[in-house]
Amino acid sequence: MGDSLFLTFIGPPSCGKGTQSELLKRTYNVNHMSTGDLLREVIRKKTQKGKEIQKIISKGGLVPDRIIMDLLEEKLKVTNLQAGALFDGFPRTIDQAVGLDHVLGGRQRRLTAALNFEVDFHEIIKRVTGRRIHPASGRIYHTTYKPPKTPGIDDITGEPLIQRKDDTLEVLQQRMEVFNKTVSPIKEFYKAHNLIININANKSPDLVFEEITEKLATLGITKTF
Ligand code: AP5
Repeated sequence: MGDSLFLTFIGPPSCGKGTQSELLKRTYNVNHMSTGDLLREVIRKKTQKGKEIQKIISKGGLVPDRIIMDLLEEKLKVTNLQAGALFDGFPRTIDQAVGLDHVLGGRQRRLTAALNFEVDFHEIIKRVTGRRIHPASGRIYHTTYKPPKTPGIDDITGEPLIQRKDDTLEVLQQRMEVFNKTVSPIKEFYKAHNLIININANKSPDLVFEEITEKLATLGITKTF
């Protein structure tokens, strides 16, 4: 088995998985795969499949496992796994967790850890409602916590930022319901494999990042940069 870093994140909507992925990607020089981003890419192509996915996401439901596994396999075909990878927003079902094991095992790789982000609901509400994104790059901002230099404008390209359609209180409730229903078996699955690392995600991004890197260091994983 290779020693590259392979992490998955377990956590409620807007707990900071994407934000930490950006920091971890740069620090450990690993690939970042967000199933949410992959799905939004399909939606942008406006195909029939994209329309079906959009319908599910806008109601806060889970996209079928078959679609998710196909997207992941496609992405892995063009990814150098030697560098390791962060699986952001994946797995969300036991079938996906088992699928990930097979996908990695088939490539002589295995998961290093499953980071379990713990964050209070009132904080999730603030993070969801204030989030703004630059769709083309996936850059993440927050109106209060991480404001762009000019409100509503991407710092790098000068293009407009958008609010995700599923970042409303109404859809958040549904996303939380789905998360609460599905998270226990996934946690149990990774506990049984001794892979769970709990992270207090209520703190600032820098402090959350510090906790993650400290806990990874106890596994012998050191920063690349
Ligand atoms: P996805 O895009 O994965 O959404 P999510 O899991 O709900 O996570 P988010 O993207 O909302 O948040 P995040 O945790 O990345 O937080 P972020 O760093 O942006 O999935 C969307 C939908 O796609 C799902 O609902 C489902 O329908 C479908 N889907 C996706 N994957 C699937 C799968 N595997 N199977 C089936 N369906 C799937 O941070 C949020 C905000 O908070 C930002 O503004 C950020 O600046 C701010 N922030 C972050 N960290 C902090 C901090 N520590 N302190 C203060 N502010 C912070």
